[in-house]
Amino acid sequence: MMNIAVLVSGRGSNLQAIIDNIETGCLKAKISVVISDIDNAYALIRAKKHGIQAVFINPKNFATKELYEKELLSLLKQKEAGLVLLAGYMRVVGDTLLSAFRNRILNIHPALLPSFPGLKAQKQAFDYGVKVAGCTVHFVDEKLDGGPIILQRCVEVKEDDTEETLAARILEQEHTIYPEAVKLFVEDRLRVEGHKVIIIN
Ligand code: GAR
Repeated sequence: MMNIAVLVSGRGSNLQAIIDNIETGCLKAKISVVISDIDNAYALIRAKKHGIQAVFINPKNFATKELYEKELLSLLKQKEAGLVLLAGYMRVVGDTLLSAFRNRILNIHPALLPSFPGLKAQKQAFDYGVKVAGCTVHFVDEKLDGGPIILQRCVEVKEDDTEETLAARILEQEHTIYPEAVKLFVEDRLRVEGHKVIIIN
């Protein structure tokens, strides 16, 4: 069974979706650790409620990003992680983690990439006036929100939507496609060819 590590910074609803899919048996994997860069992230409480080790690592305790990520790395190795999930982890992943986990780090982003990378993607899309929004699961590489795309899901923007109602409907879809993408990874059904991801049936 593959060990998964989940990096978080906040409320952890995507973490919860992964946990739920594991507990119902849809996803055959184990979360061996949840790591937060924020002390009071609710995601840490969610992990503990499910008997999962939850660790806060304070980036401010390290002089450089490299040293911080080396600390993350030693924990990931200790927990024998085969896959790292970013689930609302609000930091740019650096070379130290990327080179150790090349094509083994996934991220969920609340927009149809390559549109609206970066922060507050739902607001960016809403303010731009798009008629179709959505979310993306992708491999993480050096480019911010720019790695090979695994799955995307569209969400129609309604005339009476606010930024909040739109974000809530996008989030529902995040909770569906993230576990689906993780399942494909765990079942070894993803092949990265250049910037494309081939899904093997
Ligand atoms: C989610 O909407 C996720 O897509 C987004 O943060 C939220 C985290 O929610 N991630 C990013 O914007 C990363 N660029 P959650 O903590 O409830 O899963």
